[in-house]
Amino acid sequence: MDQVQPTSSNPTRLAVDIVSATKVYSDGTQALLPVDLQIKKGEFVSLLGPSGCGKSTLLKMIAGLTKPSSGSIQIGKGDAKKSKELQFNSALYPSTLPRLSFVFQSPTLMPWANVRANVRLPLDLAGIPKVVSNERVNDILAKVGLSDFANSLPRKLSGGMQMRVSIARGLITQPDILLMDEPFGALDEITRHKLDSDLLALWEKENLTVIFVTHSIHEAVFLSSRVIMMAPRPGRITNEFMIEAAYPRSQDFMLTSQFMKYARLLQESLQNASQPSW
Ligand SMILES: Nc1ncnc2c1ncn2[C@@H]1O[C@H](COP(=O)(O)OP(=O)(O)OP(=O)(O)O)[C@@H](O)[C@H]1O
Ligand SMILES: [Mg+2]
Repeated sequence: MDQVQPTSSNPTRLAVDIVSATKVYSDGTQALLPVDLQIKKGEFVSLLGPSGCGKSTLLKMIAGLTKPSSGSIQIGKGDAKKSKELQFNSALYPSTLPRLSFVFQSPTLMPWANVRANVRLPLDLAGIPKVVSNERVNDILAKVGLSDFANSLPRKLSGGMQMRVSIARGLITQPDILLMDEPFGALDEITRHKLDSDLLALWEKENLTVIFVTHSIHEAVFLSSRVIMMAPRPGRITNEFMIEAAYPRSQDFMLTSQFMKYARLLQESLQNASQPSW
């Protein structure tokens, strides 16, 4: 069964617990009707839906960048013990570092600073000495395939490589949750496929929970363990789909009948979500 009931909530394993969260902007725009969404640790969840359905608003509320008008959003329920351990055992991950990172569509890099300095920024802001943080930067740059570009300025890099820098900067704090708002939307198809594959590898290796906004059905099916479908006017969740294909997923997955079946299901659901309400 592909279309599923909302995930049953086991509080100890929840990365994000959203209960009846709404958003009305100050100009009166009702961006989101009450949203109930539980995301388990380790899930790869995509938010898919037409423009204006509230995907970015929901992501920003999860990140704490904007507050819900009503309802509640809790991050890392049951994580108190872990945070405490990190706080006391590691100079690299003091409690001031967020357990959650946000990667935007545009890489938003400092043009005057090299790749190493851009990636290290969150650790610099947290006051972590360079002798400690540089080791972590080397590790992350290797993971995103940028070891040879540590001293390059952003303008010397392609769009795909700049996005890798942005992802590396997101991962430098070792977050539990990575929030990504159409991160590869501006890239060409081949670069996007490569980054999708590399992101999946990082997700598995780093034990991340990823919440990923996209307009692309194919990207959502390829990446996700679960796809949340949203509809606009006003923004709301209409449906969700478990993508029950095994990981690791190679590009060949996109050629399978299983992939096509999911793509068709999501296409139908997206068409319904896109229908005007008048
Ligand atoms: N700061 C704001 N003030 C007022 N209204 C806003 C604000 N930000 C977003 N909105 C409105 O809230 C609704 C949801 O916007 P949001 O950006 O979350 O949608 P989205 O699904 O991310 O769209 P897109 O796919 O185009 O990025 C839209 O009607 C939008 O115009
Ligand atoms: Mg958006």
